[in-house]
Amino acid sequence: MVDLSAVVLAAGEGKRMKSATSKVLHRACGRPLVYYPVRAAFDAGATRVVCVLSPRNRQAAERELEHAFGADRVSIAVQDPPLGTGHAAKIGLEQVQTSQVLLLCGDTPLLSAAHLADLFGRLDGAELVLTTTMLDDPTGYGRVLRGADGRVSAVREHKDLASDHERAVREINAGVYAAKTDFLRAALASLKNDNAQGEYYLTDVVEEAARVGAADAVLGPARDLLGVNDRAQLARAEALLFERIAERWARGGASVQCGAFIDETAVVEPDAVICAAAALRGRTVVRAGALVDTGAVITDSEIGPGARVLPYSVITDSQVAARAQIGPFAHLRPGSVIEDEAHVGNFVETKKTRLGRGAKANHLAYLGDGEVGERANIGAGTIFCNYDGFRKHQTVIGAGAFIGSDSQLVAPVNIGEGAYVATGTTVTRDVPADALAIGRTKQENKAGYASRLRARLSAPKKV
Ligand code: UD1
Ligand code: CA
Repeated sequence: MVDLSAVVLAAGEGKRMKSATSKVLHRACGRPLVYYPVRAAFDAGATRVVCVLSPRNRQAAERELEHAFGADRVSIAVQDPPLGTGHAAKIGLEQVQTSQVLLLCGDTPLLSAAHLADLFGRLDGAELVLTTTMLDDPTGYGRVLRGADGRVSAVREHKDLASDHERAVREINAGVYAAKTDFLRAALASLKNDNAQGEYYLTDVVEEAARVGAADAVLGPARDLLGVNDRAQLARAEALLFERIAERWARGGASVQCGAFIDETAVVEPDAVICAAAALRGRTVVRAGALVDTGAVITDSEIGPGARVLPYSVITDSQVAARAQIGPFAHLRPGSVIEDEAHVGNFVETKKTRLGRGAKANHLAYLGDGEVGERANIGAGTIFCNYDGFRKHQTVIGAGAFIGSDSQLVAPVNIGEGAYVATGTTVTRDVPADALAIGRTKQENKAGYASRLRARLSAPKKV
């Protein structure tokens, strides 16, 4: 096993986000920012990750990390108050027992495990290795200063830059380091906060490592090292993450159009097609050969093999089985189960309802708390009246039954197999199998009445 731990610094206030939510809890592709560096550290071989949090974000971050990685895999250290990245690292290091450690920031979500492995590999010849990158606009970042021999001599924070020469340096510190634990502990113990921000800078340990000839640097790709300090950078980071996720599933054999929003937690099987502006959120799984058309929003749901979800459908906590068809403009609320080849058409809402194999509700209906048998047909405008103002009740429809348009089924109620409910009927009593339920007033036709009526209605008003 590799002798490596990681410390993720995530206790800063994130003032530049201008948000009531702590920075590292802001979400990108369905995960909080802090998830990503923790993931990268584990993927790079860290056996333990310590996450430094603040009293303000601790509870929520701990819950998210436990949810993602399981209990006890990430240990939590609390920094209170936040006195700088060096202070945070020191607190995190108290829980590190391995002889080598990765230091990461909670706000760099694009970091790759491959880069961390690279960094770690360079530790053999150094006490501390930092990641640098070249930026056209280095504003805000710490600059990497190098001596005449080209070796790193220090990192100078933007606010502490001393000359135009330093300001012109385009090589920046990415805030990602690998270090020998003993060296780091000693260097952190002697940090001072005599700088522009009155903080303990982690970056000062670079100067200390350089002083003893044990600092090394690895140039990393700028797009993997983007730090999120404000909302604009958050949007940019999320767009890049969405692109990466799309690419991953596309390489696995799915067709993913540009501009699909697939969360980090979703799964897309080969031959599935995910169109632009479709959103797959949470634990959604799209099975082989299924289509999710543009604008569909699917959360924590399974879309079966070969199923078709047409544009602008919203599906939450539901299951859609093989070759079923949903939408356009359908709304499957939690607990909907749509079995093989069933159809749910436009402006149909379902909730806690099972639609049996081949059943159809093609237009304008509300199906709440129901069981619909195989091949049953639900006409346009049908409503399951499931709520009496106090409790919810079940509507059960047998296989092959036909519910005429504009019917209200007042639950609890059972419609037997193969029964027929005439259009416009309000069903308040059970309908036996194979029976016809009809409840509407008889129609009367008055011959010639229409033209008489028109004449009367269009006559000039008497004054
Ligand atoms: C830091 C580096 C800078 C580098 C940049 C890269 C320092 C002093 N500066 O600056 O050289 O170019 O990252 O993105 O290290 N944090 C704590 N406790 C604190 C302060 C911060 O846990 O007391 C955490 C934050 O939550 C954040 C990370 O440390 O995840 C970095 O802090 P931030 O304030 O964003 O540092 P930068 O100004 O970006
Ligand atoms: Ca930052």
